[in-house]
Amino acid sequence: MSAVLSPSRPVTDLGFPPDAAKLAFGSSLSANAGGDDSAPRAGAASGGPGESVPAGARAGASAGRFAHEPVMLTEVLALFAPLGGGLVIDATVGGGGHAQAILERRSDLCLLGLDRDPEAVAAARERLARFGERARVERARFDRLSDALAAERARRGVADRAVFPLVAVLFDLGVSSHQLDVAERGFSYRHGGPLDMRMDPEVGPSAADVVNGWGEARLAALFAEHGEERFARRIARAVVAARPLFRTDVLAEVVAGALPAAVRRRGHPARRVFQALRVAVNEELEQLPGAIDDAIAALAPGGRCVVLAYHSGEDRIVKERFRQAATGGCVCPPGLPCGCGARPLVRLLTRSSRQANSEEKAANPRADAARLRAVERLDETEEPLS
Ligand SMILES: C[S@@+](CC[C@H](N)C(=O)[O-])C[C@H]1O[C@@H](n2cnc3c(N)ncnc32)[C@H](O)[C@@H]1O
Repeated sequence: MSAVLSPSRPVTDLGFPPDAAKLAFGSSLSANAGGDDSAPRAGAASGGPGESVPAGARAGASAGRFAHEPVMLTEVLALFAPLGGGLVIDATVGGGGHAQAILERRSDLCLLGLDRDPEAVAAARERLARFGERARVERARFDRLSDALAAERARRGVADRAVFPLVAVLFDLGVSSHQLDVAERGFSYRHGGPLDMRMDPEVGPSAADVVNGWGEARLAALFAEHGEERFARRIARAVVAARPLFRTDVLAEVVAGALPAAVRRRGHPARRVFQALRVAVNEELEQLPGAIDDAIAALAPGGRCVVLAYHSGEDRIVKERFRQAATGGCVCPPGLPCGCGARPLVRLLTRSSRQANSEEKAANPRADAARLRAVERLDETEEPLS
């Protein structure tokens, strides 16, 4: 077998080498690729072989009805354009919008999509089915990225990183429009539904558990920290007084009622509290730093990691993990040559975060908050900082 997929291969060479394709997607494989709030959608979803999909999820999403417009797609595709052939991990595959565009654009790339939400997994499998063995979608949290990659390499019979390099990892964080749209998922402050908000409906406490179980001070800290809510304490007081709360619309009313009448702010009055609850319920920020570090560690030289964040808590983590990887953890005083032996793992492709252009922001409200950052993995033989 001579075919080696190198991240430094010219972009113009778009044909996936036939031998490499066979190696990477051998015949033993059964590939299983199968805006904000609006009206609920319904549809049939199917799980992949060997996967148990909760009954609730089966009534949730099929690709056609999984509404989600991929954010900053042009920018993501441009960042992926210089990559050589190999594997891309879409760590938050959602409905497969970014994934589909990547696979369409580059026939020398294969994709492993991860998502913790069984409805997203079903929708992405259906949407990516036409790419056959080039695409696989697995139900997994992104903090299991290393395990998922190892399992993928084992399934494809290519343990050698040089033969089957990981050339890119994409994180498009937060919730999908689909999750917000389906009232029963309990993410939306606009639609009445159960206070749930779990991306994986089989795991962890629901938003109702948090709202009804946490003390007032802890709720206030949550709303302040993860919602950046100025009136966190008075909202927490009102929430505790109104308990028990089991419905999204009732909680939204309690929050709105707790705000001073004179306050005029952008967006729905409950937006920040709902964001904070969602972050806590899904442990969103806890999983992120390690997942970014794992992604960087797994990338082949020249490979790229691109992250789209939607609130400042997420973006701070992305910025910090990228900075850490770009300095190699150097502790030397700024301006002096590095004497601590730190080796940078990446170079920053974005000095500060990038935003969607005004047309995209106008067309897709989700794009308004998006902050994109990207890094490129350096060669391990790179000289230490000097
Ligand atoms: C913004 S959507 C991704 C949309 C996708 N890029 C597209 O174009 O269709 C984010 C997805 O990430 C998933 N997600 C969020 N946190 C996750 C985690 N820790 N592990 C795996 N999936 C996660 C959500 O379930 C959701 O489907």
